[in-house]
Amino acid sequence: MWAGRHVVVGVTGGIASYKTCHLVRRLVEAGALVDVVMTPAATEFVRPLVFEALSGRPVLTSLWEPGRALAHVRLGQQADLIIVAPATADFLARIAHGLADDFLSAVMLARTVPALLAPAMNDDMFAAASTQANLARLAGQGYALVGPERGSLAEGPSDRPGRMSEPETIWHHAARCLSRGSSLRGRQVVVTAGPTREHLDPVRLITNSSSGKMGFRIAQAAWHRGADVLLITGPSTEPPPIGVTVERIVTTAELDQAVRRALPSADVLVMAAAPADYRPTGSTDRKRPRTEGTLMVAFEPTDDILAGTRALRKPAAITVGFALETGGAVERATAKLERKGLDLIVANDALEPGAGFEVDTNHVIIIEAGGARIDVPMASKAVVAEAILDRIEARLG
Ligand code: CTP
Repeated sequence: MWAGRHVVVGVTGGIASYKTCHLVRRLVEAGALVDVVMTPAATEFVRPLVFEALSGRPVLTSLWEPGRALAHVRLGQQADLIIVAPATADFLARIAHGLADDFLSAVMLARTVPALLAPAMNDDMFAAASTQANLARLAGQGYALVGPERGSLAEGPSDRPGRMSEPETIWHHAARCLSRGSSLRGRQVVVTAGPTREHLDPVRLITNSSSGKMGFRIAQAAWHRGADVLLITGPSTEPPPIGVTVERIVTTAELDQAVRRALPSADVLVMAAAPADYRPTGSTDRKRPRTEGTLMVAFEPTDDILAGTRALRKPAAITVGFALETGGAVERATAKLERKGLDLIVANDALEPGAGFEVDTNHVIIIEAGGARIDVPMASKAVVAEAILDRIEARLG
């Protein structure tokens, strides 16, 4: 996504600018070409030399340096994205009113490309009526905003917004700003992830070793592409994806209910969850002592969620299933694609090292209704998620 993209990172005079160093490093590592533009006040906090070393390019600080005539227009119109982090109250006021008395504000006035602002300031300055009016005005001018968040400020702890979002959060919002041409933009995407649990008694349960990683990566990548994403997940220790609404469930029956609620408005359903296929026919509400001896448990199959909810899908919705098999993956997955009425099924082999549950990588074969097959070589689950979304977008048209 970032390789070859040209990103302008504007830095204004706030203490949070130390975090912007991490953001620049993250963008450069991801393959972006980064031009850092600093206001005169910003250079009082972090020396331009730091950003020059991180970006590998000269830092722009003044309209008046030789050879920089019209550079503000070029940057504002030819970059793929402009991020301003931190954006101080003073800077927001100036650009909200079209002032252009330094290099960065001139870039903003000339800009025709997407821009993301990460405000950072004292909590009272953020709450001030003039700052709120300026932010509303900037949103109306097409600026995207991230934060500020609650938490400690330079002057001490606060439970009110003011603190700049973390570089990782800004990075995810920036990725979403880049997605303007995606056919997922504005679409409702529902992703399920993780295992489900079926209890035998209050402390004992049957589950599987799904970690949720694949579904969480798909949810995050779909949000980057501009979708509104609902992630319905069983127990998982993965951190919640940025920007995504997360609904937590425990049992296969709860997952079924959550999918039923979400389906009528879903443009895409990606069923990456590994629901327990069996549940005990009965469970007790007290912990059974071991001294009671041999425990005989009968299990019954759970409902097939994908097959059982077909009638609730929107007519043009794209439905994606997963098939984790131990041998014969393509044949078994193709049969499931037909049985469950899917557009795509993602097949993988649980026995292949580096693929399947719990690991950070996967090797999958995407099988499409109509017979097309795409072998996605072993890669991180984030990369595999992009390959799956590419196929979903191709079918959405
Ligand atoms: N799935 C589902 N409802 C279930 C079990 C699975 O909707 N009760 C979904 C999974 O989320 C996955 C797809 O169906 O997207 C295939 O899951 P899998 O467990 O391989 O399918 P089963 O129909 O349970 O087949 P098997 O008999 O091989 O277990």
